[in-house]
Amino acid sequence: MTELNPRFWEVFFEVYENLPRQGPGNRACAARALGLCRDLPECPAILDLGCGVGGQTFQLAEMTSGSIVAVDNHAPSIERLRTAIARNGLSHRVSAIVGDMAHLEQPLGSFDLIWSEGALYSIGLGNALRVCHGLLRPGGYLAFTDAVWCKESPPAEVKAGFDVDYPTMGSLDDDVAAIHDGGFEIVGHFTLPDEAWWDDFYTPMEARIARLRSKYASDLEASAILDQLAEEPAMHRRYSDFYAYEFFVVRRPFWIGPKGAGTTRG
Ligand SMILES: C[S@@+](CC[C@H](N)C(=O)[O-])C[C@H]1O[C@@H](n2cnc3c(N)ncnc32)[C@H](O)[C@@H]1O
Repeated sequence: MTELNPRFWEVFFEVYENLPRQGPGNRACAARALGLCRDLPECPAILDLGCGVGGQTFQLAEMTSGSIVAVDNHAPSIERLRTAIARNGLSHRVSAIVGDMAHLEQPLGSFDLIWSEGALYSIGLGNALRVCHGLLRPGGYLAFTDAVWCKESPPAEVKAGFDVDYPTMGSLDDDVAAIHDGGFEIVGHFTLPDEAWWDDFYTPMEARIARLRSKYASDLEASAILDQLAEEPAMHRRYSDFYAYEFFVVRRPFWIGPKGAGTTRG
């Protein structure tokens, strides 16, 4: 089964778009990370990169009085999010746009807070940090999660699972080095607890896959894709000691420019 197969993506999104969120994380962790952003303005300008269907976008809308621009390059997720924004009466301060986080047209230095759960890796962490540095005002915060290896030499099955999506995934120390290289100060970081993988992500994912198995009972190709997608939570049950999601809260310093070209666009 190749992931270049269009049928793979059709079934993939049929599973993922119906979940409360498209990656690990929960409200408690978002609140903890937001709490580390100590001197945000009362109504911060927030950019949510790789927002998916907006799981954390709504948490940010609830926990702040800020204006939020949520960006994702998958148009159907943005359509779904726009509908939910309108339904929740948040259109006056939350907007959702289809865009590539590597090439955004927002003015440089215009955000107080950039939020990104499980998405920066998509354009390479170093590149993403450079983009975010440019979009933040001096003193602005970047709160993001990233997958990291916790042990050397993970089993081949786990390594292969991550290699598909995130071949350059490193250790916590590698991320810390990338953050410093990107010209940021680290405010704090913590590891997502196991429930942040399950409550809003893997548990609903397994339920969704189970429902779709009935729908596709006589469709061998779709059933094989569901088997493949079911491997991710199953792998987490077996091997979660080998990797983690780390929540980083970092800050663009007031007093110094980035190393390299951080004031330019990606
Ligand atoms: C693992 S999901 C996380 C979604 C959401 N932040 C959450 O935690 O529920 C990663 C998201 O990043 C989006 N994405 C990937 N590459 C992107 C890019 N270059 N620009 C914008 N969004 C991107 C994907 O479409 C997907 O919705």
